[in-house]
Amino acid sequence: MRTTQPKTIRLSEYTVPAHLVDTVDLRFELFDDGARIHSTLSVRRNPESADAAAPVTLDGDSLKLERVALNGEDLAAENYEETGEQLVIASVPDRFELTVVTWIEPQNNTRLEGLYKSSGMFCTQCEAEGFRCITYFPDRPDVMARYRTRIEADKASCPVLLSNGNAVERGDLENGRHFVTWEDPFPKPSYLFGLVAGDLVEQRDTFTTGSGRDIDLRIYVEPRNAEKCDHALASLKRAMRWDEENYGREYDLDIFMIVAVDDFNMGAMENKGLNIFNSSCVLASQDTATDLAFERIESIVAHEYFHNWSGNRVTCRDWFQLSLKEGFTVFRDSTFSADMGSPTVKRIEDATLLRTAQFAEDAGPMAHPVRPAAYMEISNFYTLTIYEKGAEVVRMIHTLLGPELFRKGSDLYFERHDGQAVTTDDFVKAMEDASGRDLSQFRLWYEQAGTPELMVSDSHDPEQGIYRLTIEQRIPDTPGQTDKKPQHIPFALGLLGPDGEALPLMQDGSADAEGAPVEQVLELTEARHTFEFHGLPSKPVPSLLRHFSAPVRVIYPWSRDQLVFLMSHDPDGFNRWDAGQRLAVDVIQSLVGAAEGAEIEPRLVEAYRALLGDSTLDQALVAKMLQLPSEAYLIELADSPDVAAIHHAREQVLQHLATSLREELIACYHRNSEAGKYELTPESIARRSLRNTALSWLLVINDETGRDLAVQQFRDADNMTDRMGALRALVNSDYAAERSAALEEFYKHFQDDPQVVEQWFSVQASSDRAGQLPQINALLEHSAFDWKNPNKIRSVVGVFAGQNLAAFHNPDGSGYAFLADQVCRLDDSNPQIAARLVTPLTRWKKFAPAYGSLMRESLERIRDKSGLSADLYEVVHKSLG
Ligand code: ARG
Ligand code: ZN
Repeated sequence: MRTTQPKTIRLSEYTVPAHLVDTVDLRFELFDDGARIHSTLSVRRNPESADAAAPVTLDGDSLKLERVALNGEDLAAENYEETGEQLVIASVPDRFELTVVTWIEPQNNTRLEGLYKSSGMFCTQCEAEGFRCITYFPDRPDVMARYRTRIEADKASCPVLLSNGNAVERGDLENGRHFVTWEDPFPKPSYLFGLVAGDLVEQRDTFTTGSGRDIDLRIYVEPRNAEKCDHALASLKRAMRWDEENYGREYDLDIFMIVAVDDFNMGAMENKGLNIFNSSCVLASQDTATDLAFERIESIVAHEYFHNWSGNRVTCRDWFQLSLKEGFTVFRDSTFSADMGSPTVKRIEDATLLRTAQFAEDAGPMAHPVRPAAYMEISNFYTLTIYEKGAEVVRMIHTLLGPELFRKGSDLYFERHDGQAVTTDDFVKAMEDASGRDLSQFRLWYEQAGTPELMVSDSHDPEQGIYRLTIEQRIPDTPGQTDKKPQHIPFALGLLGPDGEALPLMQDGSADAEGAPVEQVLELTEARHTFEFHGLPSKPVPSLLRHFSAPVRVIYPWSRDQLVFLMSHDPDGFNRWDAGQRLAVDVIQSLVGAAEGAEIEPRLVEAYRALLGDSTLDQALVAKMLQLPSEAYLIELADSPDVAAIHHAREQVLQHLATSLREELIACYHRNSEAGKYELTPESIARRSLRNTALSWLLVINDETGRDLAVQQFRDADNMTDRMGALRALVNSDYAAERSAALEEFYKHFQDDPQVVEQWFSVQASSDRAGQLPQINALLEHSAFDWKNPNKIRSVVGVFAGQNLAAFHNPDGSGYAFLADQVCRLDDSNPQIAARLVTPLTRWKKFAPAYGSLMRESLERIRDKSGLSADLYEVVHKSLG
């Protein structure tokens, strides 16, 4: 058992650093058996610190200290103190040069924090607190310095040596070694430090900025991946142009580099001038990546690039402000993706992620505000709340201010805080100052956790032609927070007349229908509002929270007739989709626990029939509308969910739809299969999505025509989307022979490509046919599985526990015990990944007691493991407490 409880860090205890660092001079000597880091800092007392006699305190983690020198003189051991986590030097002058030499072993670094090795190359991950695993340093984002980095390594095994900024010197050394020196002119926090050394090939391009500067663009990959960089490079150039056009932000160095590494804890990292990516978030080709992967890569490349301004030029004062850069940057990449493809589809994807996973987080034991007030291990706070809800908060500011004032606000923010480490409050203040709007109540979005619930009711007075809409808000209690204040919520509304016409919104009886808007953003600030709309002889159908204008739950007693009506008439594409989802949810929920053979709503079948048959509709939207709500979403919506019952009900609806619509599905499949060149346009992506949805539905009912189409498509596909669509359909059918044949052939063909093997693991781990526990255990024994590689772990263990819900929640508790075993095993090698994988178990209180008590037992077993990491300690104790 862990004997000491990790310390809680509190925002209220923030103090400015006692010492500042102006320059950092680094020399890395890289060897096979370790690395020696020589670091020389120019340090001065911070005039703003209240503690004028404070000792110099540097953070360190797993370091072997070889030398400490002050102004060039070696310090004797009695003149400094080295605790497990800090190097403290008590008496220092006001300004001095500090030299620290450390020895580390990157080849044995399985945590993948700091400097480590991934398939033979050296690479770094320093956010949030990885730099302290390289050398002793005041490792906090409000200490910003200019870095000069000299890398020395064996020339044959590490011909490429990269760090932040510009290469200023290079040369050969003795014993077949060489060096390169990099200089980054922009002061930065240590978390943005990056270094790569290895045998890599580069793909080059150039970008000319709006002001006419030529930027050298390079993607570095292992030689076997040389052909998989085009999409990332093209995405990068689109992102660079977009940021100039939409935010007036130009790139600032002469070179921008991206490196792909196979072993990476997260998606990617925005190190200044040297972004380091998880291979799966950058490498793509038609043959190996699905449409979804292409879209994901475009958005992550953009995300990391956008950080150059929202994160690097303007950074975070402390880690409580993480959403300052992450929420804003997700908002920026999401708007970018919307502009590159279908805005409605992008909005649906964002809202789905939020409503399925972020709402669950916000209702669970780890719920925290967008600006948390306390943490034990900051790695645990790279969450959907910080990223996704944080982005929604920025989006709401955009909605409240409108695009022009928002742009004025972002210009002011970048100008005012360039080169500074600031807070979310500084961001809001810039928006206020530029717009003249008062956002004081709005700030509660950063302070209060929990998803607001809006109870909506309405009535109609035919005599006076008045429609009244009442909206009450309630914010549920979350750990450590009760009795919350009402928040400032933008609520976009439209009203539809009996023929689906958009009605003018007149809140004033004397208004003129001519000039009245047909959509309005109501601003909710009180616990309860009633709005009146005039000139409405018959009761309208309300279209509520259009475009998902706020990250809230809307509770309104929709009738099925209203939902069917909205599905075909709402001019807001998002709400059309939403009405379809609500109808499907309602139908599935009514079947949970119902007697076998209960009737399934015919209006749902007819609505889907209409969708399948109408090729005049936006096919990208239709493709989304045909996706039934996921099990995870149905579980999130339920109180004390019985997972097996939900799974069964959803399956029944799916089978009923597929059986009733068989002819339409086959027609839809063929209509969307016309041969043509593979293209990444929204239209052809929609076509592939539609035909693969049709295929998967046909195989849910084990249709023989469907089977033949799938086998043929699997064989003939010229792209991964179609090949994977066919494989997935077969894997989720009862055609066991075809399933194994396809899985085997797929593996044989792609076994040398790690990104494809990950997909091969996932398609099995997510399937209730191919991913029961014995099969999952077999995947863990497979020769391609690797306990050191986060992607492989996620694609089997993470996918099983997060997507194969009926199997994971097996009533015998075996799924939970399995996850607990893997989490304990991983905690010793990679605590960040262990703490992330445990998430499904932490939600035990939500489930029906039969499930919940078994989940809790597994959590307790993890709690009692010896040598528990701080990462896992925090998550497990908070969820049991
Ligand atoms: N800043 C990175 C991003 O672009 C993520 C870094 C995550 N690091 C971590 N230790 N969790 O989102
Ligand atoms: Zn980010």
